[in-house]
Amino acid sequence: MLEKLKQKFEETFGGNGDVRAYFAPGRVNLIGEHTDYNGGHVFPCALTIGTYAVARKREDNKLRLYSMNFEQRGVIETSLDDLTPYKEAGWTNYPKGVMWAFEERGYKMPSGLDILIYGNIPNGSGLSSSASLEVLTGLVLKDMFGFAVSMVDIALIGQYSENNFNGCNCGIMDQFASAMGKKDHAIFLDTNTLECEYAPVVLEDAKIVIINSKVKHSLVDSAYNDRRNECETALKELQTVIDIKTLGDLTEEEYEAHKDAIKSEVRQKRAKHAVYENQRTIRAVAALKANDVETFGKLMNASHVSLRDDYEVSCEEIDILVNLAWETEGVIGSRITGGGFGGCTVSIVKNEAVDGFVTNIGAKYKEKVGHEAEFYVVDIGEGAHVL
Ligand code: GLA
Repeated sequence: MLEKLKQKFEETFGGNGDVRAYFAPGRVNLIGEHTDYNGGHVFPCALTIGTYAVARKREDNKLRLYSMNFEQRGVIETSLDDLTPYKEAGWTNYPKGVMWAFEERGYKMPSGLDILIYGNIPNGSGLSSSASLEVLTGLVLKDMFGFAVSMVDIALIGQYSENNFNGCNCGIMDQFASAMGKKDHAIFLDTNTLECEYAPVVLEDAKIVIINSKVKHSLVDSAYNDRRNECETALKELQTVIDIKTLGDLTEEEYEAHKDAIKSEVRQKRAKHAVYENQRTIRAVAALKANDVETFGKLMNASHVSLRDDYEVSCEEIDILVNLAWETEGVIGSRITGGGFGGCTVSIVKNEAVDGFVTNIGAKYKEKVGHEAEFYVVDIGEGAHVL
């Protein structure tokens, strides 16, 4: 793979110079959804699929960017003097956004770069292809120019660029998982403090299976931003009656005792999800540590119900997949994963049931929805690194 990418780099940009290669993974979140911008906990892990870069410094301030996933667009040429987002710039708005965010923090790039990109995360699947591209760019800049930033800084810079350059008001989970992932471990992250703990995910009798619904509904970003605004308003309303900094500060009981301060039913549902999901995540991680995978699975199921009914970020196709999983023998838990409105589900499936799970759900989904779903049995990989 690496050799192929280097060869393509040479064909695209010519030989010579110090060429280096990098990788940043996508992620799947096991539980703790829409809690990361509410001061709660998340529990994602890095995948072994992700985005690769081959890069080389230039002597001028030009940026030449090429993606093997968008070959028809050819080499896109821009420069360090033009780090502004344009709609037509497509995928290059992600690396450019990260370069802009580095400069905002005082890390001035001494020269331009030639960068070749290749990603093997299915497009629009909600497995964080954009976050992996952001983290990847951060790593390229750190390594090429020796910027003194940590991997956590790279995650934060990626999130900052996504929020302020690309206009999605996302939390820190995706970039953090891509930058800080660890093989065979999930990351129990407190998004309020960025304290994190690695929990081994060694399921002896079961596998983690992702199903890609292959649907992505429009308005994903705006609906996401709406949810975030609703939670922020609900927090302000709660703060008139209780001294908290985030929704993640509340237990379920405290929420129930104070929820009347929230003056709309919709916002009450959103806040309820944020509070309950955070507590579910804390419990789920404790269950996993105690080797109680059954309880972990039940909490995953409850997470789905809450995302479907209270947070309202599921959709028909995803509910079909989750319902089919719940009806299947040998499924320990199943839920929507990621931002929502399409994308993927994540399930824990007993080893002996995996083949049947894939065949049966595959056939029934096609029959009900009209197109095929894709299945991936997950390996948990390392965070972003130099190759
Ligand atoms: C998207 C965002 C994350 C997180 C999830 C929902 O993936 O990028 O920050 O909010 O949605 O849990």
